Amino acid sequence: MLDAPIEIEDPHTPAELGTIRGEIVFHDVSFRYPDRILVESLARPLTNLVQDSEAAESARERSTEALRNLSLRIEPGMLVALVGPSGAGKTTITNLINRLYDPSEGFITIDGVDLRAMSLEQLHAAIGVVSQDPHLFHDTILRNLQYASENATYPEIVQAAQAAQIHSLIESLPDKYDTIVGERGYRLSGGEKQRLSIARVFLKKPSIVILDEATSALDSANEALIQAAIDRVLFHRTSIVIAHRLSTILRADKIVVVDHGEIREEGTHDELLEMNGLYRNLYETQFSLETTDEVAAPVTGE
Ligand SMILES: Nc1ncnc2c1ncn2[C@@H]1O[C@H](COP(=O)(O)OP(=O)(O)O)[C@@H](O)[C@H]1O
Ligand SMILES: [Mg+2]
Repeated sequence: MLDAPIEIEDPHTPAELGTIRGEIVFHDVSFRYPDRILVESLARPLTNLVQDSEAAESARERSTEALRNLSLRIEPGMLVALVGPSGAGKTTITNLINRLYDPSEGFITIDGVDLRAMSLEQLHAAIGVVSQDPHLFHDTILRNLQYASENATYPEIVQAAQAAQIHSLIESLPDKYDTIVGERGYRLSGGEKQRLSIARVFLKKPSIVILDEATSALDSANEALIQAAIDRVLFHRTSIVIAHRLSTILRADKIVVVDHGEIREEGTHDELLEMNGLYRNLYETQFSLETTDEVAAPVTGE
């Protein structure tokens, strides 16, 4: 029972933070996902516990750390691109910033304050997440946007939708902002959902944005709209992007190359190319293919 995963809890007396500037620092962070066996064992009778704890022990030995001794400094307003092979630990890094889990070892600070000392409410208010598949309620578009900021006025909502390049689409629907979305309503495409998710971030106005870029290429019209919306939402905010687009990677203040739960390389595009290491390999096998596409697209499209 003592080994059970620790629940994410609010501190008894949360630290008083003013306006968050958005400096994020990982201090020698290691992380292991909670063992599934152990969680299940809590639901079973006490007599099974000895046996289960043995099973859990061996499961723990087999499981590897998702992050290992990771130290990283992100200055306020910086755009950091996380790159690396699938399973490297990129999503895990963002999950820890969001406090979906706490580090197994080490700690993470925002503006010098340990995440565990902040109230979850303040932490979540400081971070906006643009996901590829945002949760939408079976309700109107207006209600889905108001969810990000209950007190937002109608003009503020329209302004956010415009900045997120989704206003024109909404206006083209028969019921406009009163259109019901979700399972039985209007089905938004992946690109439309992502732009709605960006509109929510504009309404929420967090100092930190976490963006998981889509891996699959969208149609070029959608792609241009999303790129414009993303450019605006990242502006002047501390941004952590799980990046797949070369254009984003080139714009990053710092590129962090993650592999097997560790930071392997860190620097700008030019610095990393010069290292002739993992980044260069990723660039030559994955990212550079996009350049040819991006250069070719306008020519064929005109
Ligand atoms: N919920 C989870 N439970 C257990 N292991 C997980 C979970 N999520 C990810 N992992 C493991 O953690 C490692 C890092 O995964 P992830 O952060 O998703 O990588 P990336 O985003 O770079 O593809 C992988 O080995 C993955 O299998
Ligand atoms: Mg991932």
